[in-house]
Amino acid sequence: MLRIGILGCGRIGQVHAHSIQRISQATLVAVADASADAAKACARRFGIEVRDTAGILAAKDIDAVVIATSTPTHFDMIHAAAAEGKAIFCEKPIDLSSERVRTCIDAIERAGVPFMTAFNQRFDPHFGALRQRVKDGEIGDVETVSITSRDPAPPPAAYIKGSGGIFRDMMIHDLDMARFVLGEEPVEVFAVGSNLIDEAIREAGDVDTAAVILTTASGRICQITNSRRTTYGYDKRLEVHGSKGMLRVSNVLENLVESAKITGFQSALSQPFFLERFEAAYLAEMKHFVEAVSTGSTPIPNAQDGLRAQLIADAATLSWQEGRAVAIPK
Ligand SMILES: NC(=O)c1ccc[n+]([C@@H]2O[C@H](COP(=O)([O-])OP(=O)(O)OC[C@H]3O[C@@H](n4cnc5c(N)ncnc54)[C@H](O)[C@@H]3O)[C@@H](O)[C@H]2O)c1
Repeated sequence: MLRIGILGCGRIGQVHAHSIQRISQATLVAVADASADAAKACARRFGIEVRDTAGILAAKDIDAVVIATSTPTHFDMIHAAAAEGKAIFCEKPIDLSSERVRTCIDAIERAGVPFMTAFNQRFDPHFGALRQRVKDGEIGDVETVSITSRDPAPPPAAYIKGSGGIFRDMMIHDLDMARFVLGEEPVEVFAVGSNLIDEAIREAGDVDTAAVILTTASGRICQITNSRRTTYGYDKRLEVHGSKGMLRVSNVLENLVESAKITGFQSALSQPFFLERFEAAYLAEMKHFVEAVSTGSTPIPNAQDGLRAQLIADAATLSWQEGRAVAIPK
């Protein structure tokens, strides 16, 4: 039985609490949050104990921690958890600075603790099935990948200010997905960004609409489009084209009812947002973590995967700022 403590009881911390309670090989021991109200509400909801962060990190009755606090806090928590010998499940991004991610990796390796980066979208059953079929060679050699990712509405400007920008905050999931399906590391990125939706995002120094083109050493191409707004729900699609065919995942709709009338065919909206769209993925990623730590295998995606996605996001940010293609550091 893997005994887990959660640090951070916000949106995603509660998703992980819900997942852990559905896994028979794991038990949720306690939660902590800088906000006493948030911690109490979460503890009440899941019927568990509140402790402070230091108490969870030092606890003898806890084997693993889920770091689900705000991004700038991950660095200190990773170092502290590694020093206490805890297995670590850390939300993305590990940190907003690649240099600091490298420091975290050093600490994790020194301590020899298992570490997983929470790129949950790899565990989506639809994306996972597509990736497996690409790996099995069904569509031959991968030539192009297209990823569309549009949120239903922009986050508050206050969130944008601390987010690291659209490439590090939002596109980082798509950059990891690109690595997951391309079969080769991207070596160069060209990025563009615009402010078409929300003036507050421009004022916060970020863009609300962005696209990148990634290329690999052999010439495989991936294009990613991000937007902070849609009119029809969460828009998340993936397409891989290869020498023998094409595989794609369309949006998951709220229901499968379709009407046909004189005005044409009509189906439901896509699911509202990521919490609904990736519910199965959140459970699957936590099951993978629990299984890997319990059996002594390495959880994937690991810290290096977190770093690689971060390096691409950094290069994309630079490309957008300087209006030129940027080589992705090795
Ligand atoms: N993988 C995903 O799909 C996904 C989705 C959303 C958020 N995230 C990531 O998860 C993390 C949290 O995001 P969220 O949306 O849940 O944010 P949130 O603001 O809803 O929750 C964060 C919680 O952390 C607490 N906190 C902040 N500093 C703390 C500290 N020093 N000690 C203890 N608690 C502290 C806050 O009080 C808050 O309750 C971020 O890194 C974010 O990028 C990942």
